[in-house]
Amino acid sequence: MIRGLSSPDRSMSSAVADTVTRLNSARLSTCSSTRRYPLTPIFTIRSYAREDRASLIALLWELPLWYPRGLHWLQARLTDVEHGAASATIAVAHGATVGVIIDTPKAQDRGKLSTLYVAPGSRRRGLAGQLLQIRECSWIEQGLRTVSCTLPWPQGAATYRFLAGYGFTSVALARQRYGPRRDELVVTWQQH
Ligand SMILES: CC(C)(COP(=O)(O)OP(=O)(O)OC[C@H]1O[C@@H](n2cnc3c(N)ncnc32)[C@H](O)[C@@H]1OP(=O)(O)O)[C@@H](O)C(=O)NCCC(=O)NCCS
Repeated sequence: MIRGLSSPDRSMSSAVADTVTRLNSARLSTCSSTRRYPLTPIFTIRSYAREDRASLIALLWELPLWYPRGLHWLQARLTDVEHGAASATIAVAHGATVGVIIDTPKAQDRGKLSTLYVAPGSRRRGLAGQLLQIRECSWIEQGLRTVSCTLPWPQGAATYRFLAGYGFTSVALARQRYGPRRDELVVTWQQH
C-alpha cells in the first residue's frame, strides 16, 4: 500500500481489493514518479466496480452539458470498463465518488485518457495527481508509448496546466470540433 493511501474499504469485493493492491504494488515496482503531496486519509482510491455506476454518473453530472450525448458516451465507457475493455480508477470519500480517471487502450502501443475529474470540493488535495500516477504506472506496465487526451479549448486551460505538470504536451488544436467556438486541444503523454 502506498504510504498515505487509506486501506481498501472492508466492504470492497476481494477482486477490487486485489486490484487496489496490484495497482499500488505496480506503482512501487515500476514507477519512478513520486507523489507531490500526501493524500488525506479520508480518501480511498480503487478500481471502479459495477456498483459505482450511479455514484460516478452523479459525479459527472455536468458531462452532458459539455459534450453532445455525454451521458450516452459515459454509459458506453462504463460498460467498456465492466467488460475489461477500458479502465476506470475512482476516489471515494464517505461513500461518494469524488474523483475518476478513465482510459482506454487503443491500437498497438497507444492509449486514450478520456476522463479526469475531481469534484470541486475535493480539489487541490492531490487526488488527481494520485489517480494520474496510478494510471501512468499501468501505462508503463502495459508498454504504452503514447496516451492522448483532448480538452475543450480554452475552457480546459487549467486542466492542461495540471496535465503539463505530469509530462503531457500539446500536439494539436482541433478547430470547432463540436461546433462554433468549440475548439479541442489534443495533448499527449509519452513514455521515453
Ligand atoms: C484538473 C483537476 C482534475 C485537478 O484535480 P485535483 O485533485 O485538484 O488535482 P491535484 O490536487 O492533484 O493538483 C491540483 C493542484 O493542487 C496542488 N496541490 C495538490 N495538493 C496540494 C496540497 N496539499 N497543498 C498545496 N497544493 C496542493 C497541485 O500541485 C496542483 O497544482 P498546480 O495547479 O500547480 O498543478 C480538477 O481541477 C478537475 O477535475 N477539473 C475539471 C476537469 C474537467 O473539466 N474534466 C473534463 C471532464 S472529463
